[in-house]
Amino acid sequence: MKKQIEISVKNLSFSYGDHEVLKNINLEIYKGDYIAFIGPNGGGKTTLIKLLLGLIEPNCENIKIFANDVKTARQKIGYLPQYINFNMDMPINVLDIVLQGRLTKGKFFYTKKDKEIALSQLKKMNIYHLKNRKIKDLSGGQRQRVLLARALTKQPKILILDEPTASIDPEGQKDIYAILKKLDLTKIIVSHDIQVLFEGVNKVAYINKTLFLHEDINMTIKRHDGHFCEMELIDFIKGDSCTN
Ligand SMILES: Nc1ncnc2c1ncn2[C@@H]1O[C@H](COP(=O)(O)OP(=O)(O)OP(=O)(O)O)[C@@H](O)[C@H]1O
Ligand SMILES: [Mg+2]
Repeated sequence: MKKQIEISVKNLSFSYGDHEVLKNINLEIYKGDYIAFIGPNGGGKTTLIKLLLGLIEPNCENIKIFANDVKTARQKIGYLPQYINFNMDMPINVLDIVLQGRLTKGKFFYTKKDKEIALSQLKKMNIYHLKNRKIKDLSGGQRQRVLLARALTKQPKILILDEPTASIDPEGQKDIYAILKKLDLTKIIVSHDIQVLFEGVNKVAYINKTLFLHEDINMTIKRHDGHFCEMELIDFIKGDSCTN
């Protein structure tokens, strides 16, 4: 069966003012892919994600998602951003936050069905017992699960996660990876944690202004006989990608 392309990026370059951040990016992501974006600080990973979401350059013509423009496709994408500023004084609880995933343009209320979907996501994330807690009273790891539940409550076709495990302890990271591995949808994960490559991803893109794609990361790891040196693996993944 022919694999279905969900995200197609062609000859994409992007600059903030005269600072070129991404150069001639080409990438195809297929239905069911689980792709990791890795690369150094400032390499352009978050910028590429914001372009995919239409948060910057909403009229970008070099990106097609489900054969549509990024603005149209956005409603089918669940997103967990790298940084979130919560107003800790807001009297908002965990369930309220997860329910936000059900809001769409022009819809300001929740149905009974919306609430059922939100509660079932809380159960899947093992945080149902926290549903009435205030967000300010949660740990970093619990907060990430709430945000993941919110992204999934949207019932997206694509899930994009920008460093979801950055402030989580190793045990919590393992739990998040296990949850993600089981999710049957197209996933993009940005991470500085090389461990992510062993947690079910099938492709890796090394991004440092240019993008270097490894189509089958499992083969890459096998070629190292399972005995890999982390730096060696990173060097391999860098390929001939340019440095600034
Ligand atoms: N809004 C902005 N205005 C100007 N420059 C920006 C803006 N956002 C990011 N940059 C610059 O663009 C480059 C790429 O940033 P980006 O956040 O995409 O990198 P990243 O790969 O996500 O890095 P990190 O791993 O640190 O999250 C950096 O040099 C950054 O300083
Ligand atoms: Mg980033």
